[in-house]
Amino acid sequence: MKIFSIIGARPQFVKEAIVQNEINKYDEIKEIVVHTGQHYDNNMSDVFFKVLNMKKPDYNLGIKASNHGEMTGKMIIELEKIMIEESPDIVLLYGDTNSTLAGAISASKLKIKIAHVEAGLRQEPKDIPEETNRVLTDRISTYLFAPSDLAIENLDKEGITQGVYFTGDVMYDIFLKMRPRFDYSMMKELSLEKNDYIMMTMHRDFNVDTPEKLEKILKDVNRVSKEIKVVLPIHPRTKKRIEQFGFENLISNIIIIEPIDYLKLMGLTENCFKVITDSGGYQKEAYFSGKQAVIIMPDTGWRELTGCGFNVLTQENKIYDNVMNTNKVDYIENIYGNGKAAEKIISILKEKVI
Ligand code: UD1
Repeated sequence: MKIFSIIGARPQFVKEAIVQNEINKYDEIKEIVVHTGQHYDNNMSDVFFKVLNMKKPDYNLGIKASNHGEMTGKMIIELEKIMIEESPDIVLLYGDTNSTLAGAISASKLKIKIAHVEAGLRQEPKDIPEETNRVLTDRISTYLFAPSDLAIENLDKEGITQGVYFTGDVMYDIFLKMRPRFDYSMMKELSLEKNDYIMMTMHRDFNVDTPEKLEKILKDVNRVSKEIKVVLPIHPRTKKRIEQFGFENLISNIIIIEPIDYLKLMGLTENCFKVITDSGGYQKEAYFSGKQAVIIMPDTGWRELTGCGFNVLTQENKIYDNVMNTNKVDYIENIYGNGKAAEKIISILKEKVI
């Protein structure tokens, strides 16, 4: 079997790492890995391949992030050429980025079967880019690997029942596998004490691209930072906007660092008090780590965790209140499977795909 895996953005490297590890156990499976180039900085891309022991991609398309249509269009053009040349049995896609959608369209037009890892997530509002990407990808996938029961219900509501499998979440797999290797060195480097700092990440366009919204968020986080340290590994999009809008004064009390690799981020997360984020992946990784996340979003694809109150959604002017709220909700086990999602995914593909 020849699998054609497409990755492009940071969270996809993490997901691919564990699936690749599983694929490597079988001589009869050949994997071609294509990196679209959507994320290209060393600390957003290369470093993940290094610390997660991944093979160098077979192809790197070098299509840097730009306007959505342009980026997705260029990817479709290049992916189609390579798919024709490689003639894979199956195209493997992850999550909800523009690289995911481009891969889905290219494969579908060439009548190559698609397997979607992290199928069935749904989130309001419908017009955010990630929602468009995942809804369209699910629609044309042959195999839909759902990370939770809720994801299966979501697909069911849309009439998608064929080819749907509960696998659990590959991000939980890699979290468990890598936990013994988590890197705690940043604690000392940043003079942090256990349970005495907040970890924050933020990159969504709806939070950072308009000055009014970004200003409100930073003002509220600034209030938080007066009471407890806030560490923010800053995403390039967010950094660019802060500079563009002249908001440097609003972050002077926040500990801003460059984006860090998976092992370092998890090391910091394991010892923090809480997480503030708008990342889909990180809100869940916080939960794996037993840390509650305050999510700067109107809705989330991971509703299991907000439904039970472990994570909370927040408006931009309620971040402080939510972080300071000390209502403790007990950790719920195994919402996202048992750490064997990648194993299940590959065993299903081995059985179903010739
Ligand atoms: C993308 C995904 C999002 C995912 C996130 C993880 C889409 C629509 N969005 O959002 O779902 O949660 O990745 O980070 O696919 N940039 C750099 N260097 C890099 C990467 C990006 O400077 O290595 C800059 C880009 O030039 C661009 C901005 O950051 O200006 C945003 O990058 P982009 O890939 O468009 O979107 P993300 O916000 O990262």
